[in-house]
Amino acid sequence: MGGKDSVFRASGKGPTLLPCRAVGAHRRVSSFHSGTSRVMLEQSESETRKRGGRGLEFFRGFLRSPDQVGSVIPSSRFLERRLVQSAGITDATCVVELGPGTGGTTRALLEAMRPDASLLTIELDAQFAEMLNEIGDPRLFSHHGSAADLGSILAGHGLPQPDAVVSGIPFSTMPRAIGTAVIEAIRDHLAPGGCFVAYQFRGHVGRLGRPILGQPEVELEWLNVPPMRFYRWTRSLS
Ligand SMILES: C[S@@+](CC[C@H](N)C(=O)[O-])C[C@H]1O[C@@H](n2cnc3c(N)ncnc32)[C@H](O)[C@@H]1O
Repeated sequence: MGGKDSVFRASGKGPTLLPCRAVGAHRRVSSFHSGTSRVMLEQSESETRKRGGRGLEFFRGFLRSPDQVGSVIPSSRFLERRLVQSAGITDATCVVELGPGTGGTTRALLEAMRPDASLLTIELDAQFAEMLNEIGDPRLFSHHGSAADLGSILAGHGLPQPDAVVSGIPFSTMPRAIGTAVIEAIRDHLAPGGCFVAYQFRGHVGRLGRPILGQPEVELEWLNVPPMRFYRWTRSLS
């Protein structure tokens, strides 16, 4: 409740997945360029192996702290794509990712981001945070700490108010007081016109967020294990 509710509003059209037609078109082109398609196939096999390695590290992280990690496998490519679209990442100048895990979502964000944009990741698990440093992208600031400290972490890195905050942290298994502190920190630091997108298996973030940020838009991404709900709040410009 309270005066700050009104600065947030539900907005915009929902994101869409790439049409299957695009996949078919790509297949036709590559059959005419067998050398190019072999290189692309090798690249995609190598990416699949790397994803597999990160999946194993993710599972180890789950065994270390099940409630904190909240899932046994990282998000799917479909979820990554929807996250990029839903949070308007291609237009953002400063993005914050809460709970990047082993960095699959982080890589997808970086791929979509402008060359002059910045991405701050905040991860509670020290080993995951260390893995993110291996990405080696100059736009990336990897921070080991809690999302509840968003304000001081942004200031410490000399970053402006983010125009997108995305979050995979499990609000359903963390203490309610911490979940509330995270959402209040987002309310206090998101740039005018910016959005907060949380993808969650359960509905806790919606219930925690409504009194602080207002009514969210909610969508479902089926192509993930498990299917994931997307909650989006957009801060008004004034
Ligand atoms: C479900 S995983 C999401 C990983 C990745 N973004 C993905 O989609 O595959 C949740 C992550 O949030 C992290 N986490 C949990 N509580 C946190 C907090 N208070 N601050 C920062 N990270 C947190 C966990 O350590 C874990 O890496």
